[in-house]
Amino acid sequence: MTIARLGFVGLGIMGGPMAANLVRAGFEVTVWNRTPAKAEPLAALGAAIAGSPAEVAEAAEVVVSCVTDSPDVEAIAIGPSGIAEGGRAGLYYVDCSTIAPATARRLAARLGGQGIRMLDAPVSGGDVGARAGTLAIMVGGEAADFEAVQPVLQAMGRTIVHCGPSGAGQVVKLCNQVAGALNLLAMAEAVTLARRAGVDPAKMLEVVSAGAAGSWMLTNLGPRAVGGDFTPGFMVELMQKDLRLVMETSEDTQTPLPGSALVQQLFRMLEARGRGRDGTQAIVEALRLLAE
Ligand SMILES: NC(=O)c1ccc[n+]([C@@H]2O[C@H](COP(=O)([O-])OP(=O)(O)OC[C@H]3O[C@@H](n4cnc5c(N)ncnc54)[C@H](OP(=O)(O)O)[C@@H]3O)[C@@H](O)[C@H]2O)c1
Repeated sequence: MTIARLGFVGLGIMGGPMAANLVRAGFEVTVWNRTPAKAEPLAALGAAIAGSPAEVAEAAEVVVSCVTDSPDVEAIAIGPSGIAEGGRAGLYYVDCSTIAPATARRLAARLGGQGIRMLDAPVSGGDVGARAGTLAIMVGGEAADFEAVQPVLQAMGRTIVHCGPSGAGQVVKLCNQVAGALNLLAMAEAVTLARRAGVDPAKMLEVVSAGAAGSWMLTNLGPRAVGGDFTPGFMVELMQKDLRLVMETSEDTQTPLPGSALVQQLFRMLEARGRGRDGTQAIVEALRLLAE
């Protein structure tokens, strides 16, 4: 099957540039966003604007979505005027939001009942990767469906991996957040120790980043933390949404995750001080407060 007509629901920080890349790749794209103004830049690129997710589904062979949390995906997929209302049997639905694996599985089963093939396809790489079309995409669902939507995924990402059945993409995204959270804590503890022991933390970062303890967090967020730049690349409150999903999955699977729980509580300290919209490098502030 050659895919020509796509739909996109959710044109936020991630969804906007992802949809733009699909238009640039030559697909005929129909978009919908809850706040209509965010669809205007897409219309300027040549996308059609629909009045609801149902209308998007009517116009498309593949619908992609990127909204905030589990209840939001439920609303656009199976709520009033949702994708299920407009979609026919044979429609592919690729959800790129980060949501609970259990919700992804439930929605895939529910939509599957009417012949709509859903894949969970959360992404990593931030707004920079979304714009550049270099996202890592972790996909759960049927292998044949994964193959069928390859051209769509390739227009948005670079590393695209089929991780297993429905929900597996979301589980891998949560593993990504666990590893990221602990790397952040490692960066912040190293910076805090250097400072309190009287060593320039910038010198520490310079040499430690190049050795066995190096990490993306140390290289990219370490200098911002040291410089007191807490403008967000990724906000504390969005990370907390993901850590909540991690903890729900930890409970569902009886998996102890002590490090992730600790990072969640340190971020809670920041939220309690009204700093939920800071970037995640502000974790260094939580450690500073503990040491005062
Ligand atoms: N930002 C990142 O660096 C990053 C990286 C990887 C993954 N993610 C994940 O990608 C997803 C989107 O993140 P984002 O950064 O693009 O967030 P965002 O800029 O806040 O955009 C969220 C989008 O979802 C829509 N939305 C939310 N709730 C809705 C609802 N109930 N019904 C309809 N539309 C709804 C919003 O519509 P409105 O415009 O009307 O508010 C907006 O288009 C999240 O699951 C996030 O965890 C983000």
